[in-house]
Amino acid sequence: MSRNADLLSLIRGRAGTAPVRLGLILGSGLGHLANAVDGVAIPYSDLPGFPHAEVSGHNPNLVIGDLEGVRVAVFGGRAHYYEAGNPAAMRVPLEVLRDLGADTVIATNAAGSMRPDMPTGSIMCLTDHINFSGLNPLIGEPTDARFVPMKDAYDPAIRAALTAAAKAETVDMAQGIYAWYSGPSFETPAEIRAIRMLGADAVGMSTVPEVILSRFLGLRAAAISTITNMAAGMSDEAISHEHTKAMAPIGAAKLEKVLRRFLRDL
Ligand code: HPA
Repeated sequence: MSRNADLLSLIRGRAGTAPVRLGLILGSGLGHLANAVDGVAIPYSDLPGFPHAEVSGHNPNLVIGDLEGVRVAVFGGRAHYYEAGNPAAMRVPLEVLRDLGADTVIATNAAGSMRPDMPTGSIMCLTDHINFSGLNPLIGEPTDARFVPMKDAYDPAIRAALTAAAKAETVDMAQGIYAWYSGPSFETPAEIRAIRMLGADAVGMSTVPEVILSRFLGLRAAAISTITNMAAGMSDEAISHEHTKAMAPIGAAKLEKVLRRFLRDL
């Protein structure tokens, strides 16, 4: 029996027992997509083991229902490492997602761009990541399952389907490498120069621990960033959480088109 059996029966009691196909984790400013789901919203505060910390711009509900004819579980809020220092804070939600029947998770996030051809308002499909934080959500995991291979962690077939969906919707979607920086302070210009040299295209404070956990749990993973600013030192644009929240909706509109098309064509 799953160690989350009580949690699963609570969720199934409210949202029904039909298996979920896919999970969506919504990043800063993307929370409205949860409202588009025809289903049931369960506040994280009703779900033991779910993160209770909140970051403004997130909407901490688990919404289960149909989006474009696909049964999805939408995580309206995520826990970031910088909130309580726990890189495994999303482990229970991802275990629950798998136990509800899903085989795929798509994470979304707000990120700073290090590529002039990827300005504010663009979206980027992650091809790979650089764990610049050095942290790992599997530290302390006692079994050999902790040695998770991370080649093709961003599932090539899902990436191809997302790319096809973007093309079909005539949405320009870049491809690139995301660097995870712990936050909550933003990066210095020197750090941005360093991670650019290491090969990163965008930088943000989330997603990487979730993708590591997803691979550990046997879920296929993909992720898309909405670019809310040029990274520190790359332009005169303001860098602040207010700016992130204000700019996220520009990319979010494109992201929503791509995700809806992807789900319709699934
Ligand atoms: N750095 C880190 N995280 C971010 C940024 C950034 O520039 N923009 C949005 N999230």
